Amino acid sequence: MKNLLSKRAASLKPSATLAISAKEKELKSQGIDVVGFGAGEPDFPTPGHIREAAKRSLDRGETFYTPVGGALELKKAVIRRFKEDYNLEYKPDEILVSCGAKHSLYNLFQAVVGNGDEVIILAPYWVSYPEMVDLAEGVPVIVQTREENRWIPDPDEVESKINPRTKVLLLNSPSNPSGVLYPTRVLERLAALAEKHDLLVISDEIYDKLVYDGQSYTSFAAMPGMKNRTIVVNGVSKTYAMTGFRIGYLASTQAEVVKAATNIQSQSTSNPTSTAQAAAVAALTGPQDEVERMRQIFEKRRDLIVREIENSEGLSVVKPDGAFYAFVNIRPFYRGGKVSDSSEMAKFLLETQHVACVPGGPFGSEDHVRLSFATSEELIIKGIERIRTACRELG
Ligand SMILES: Cc1ncc(COP(=O)(O)O)c(C=O)c1O
Repeated sequence: MKNLLSKRAASLKPSATLAISAKEKELKSQGIDVVGFGAGEPDFPTPGHIREAAKRSLDRGETFYTPVGGALELKKAVIRRFKEDYNLEYKPDEILVSCGAKHSLYNLFQAVVGNGDEVIILAPYWVSYPEMVDLAEGVPVIVQTREENRWIPDPDEVESKINPRTKVLLLNSPSNPSGVLYPTRVLERLAALAEKHDLLVISDEIYDKLVYDGQSYTSFAAMPGMKNRTIVVNGVSKTYAMTGFRIGYLASTQAEVVKAATNIQSQSTSNPTSTAQAAAVAALTGPQDEVERMRQIFEKRRDLIVREIENSEGLSVVKPDGAFYAFVNIRPFYRGGKVSDSSEMAKFLLETQHVACVPGGPFGSEDHVRLSFATSEELIIKGIERIRTACRELG
């Protein structure tokens, strides 16, 4: 049979991060002692009060459709977080709750991008951004950031890529995969560019609660003049260790955009799962001390993994300010000729040392692999030791 697949499906790449997690799970199920640096999810159990809320919701019989864009109670909980965290005020029709932040982003790109609209994406970027823009028939325009500048974007370079087709500036700070937090002075310049060129800003703030070294964080929408042109995307996956619940959301004062994204959701998944929504209400409105406890543990692990990497001949990393990823430079090991790109390196590490990490290529850099430090200190030490052994073999 010819042309079984649509052009769209045929050219779509599977998520590299999910692929490596699947491979890791497969090896583990064969009894192999794999050290997993692949997963982009907290390794903590979901806090008890959140799980209890899910159970109570089931026992109350809340097993029916909810409004497509999320139950009002959850929208109110999201609104309360924005107000308490960033003094941002939204109304319920300015919020869309989806099946994960990924789903919010997907609906959003479908709603605002099409017909060759250009979306500026800063590299290294989260693997799904360019693919989602492609799926929306937009054009991802990649702006490189440099490791020697701590992956912080140069606003002049960003401006050099802006043209009349540019519609969206996509930001993700703290970033997956680099963990870098953009400094205020850079955010201010990016805000000025958005204003000058009348750009929509999509700010993916999914790691906003995982920031280290006492640094403060503010939503891009809370920057002067930015609220009306910024669509904020966030969710409960990373902050509350709730990846499996699949609840994410977006907020925008452009009710037209929220309505369009909601309509897209209404024709695909309908509402997010009712039980998961009840759990998310408990997460967003309940005690936040577990969030801080997990953050502190991540910070200790961040310190440990950075130290271990810096003590490894040939490896280097820009110290992440947030999130739970170390984007490790492996370029020196290409010299020996045994591996020559990030996929080969990830394969080599998995096959020879049973260490799972994600190749940097799908994030926009072949010179790196991404290690998630959402794993125990013991495994971090063991895993980096294995990487050192592999690197010695590569010469
Ligand atoms: C930058 C970024 N945005 C969005 C998401 C999606 O999160 P969710 O689990 O809410 O779909 C992820 C998850 O890996 C991420 O790293």
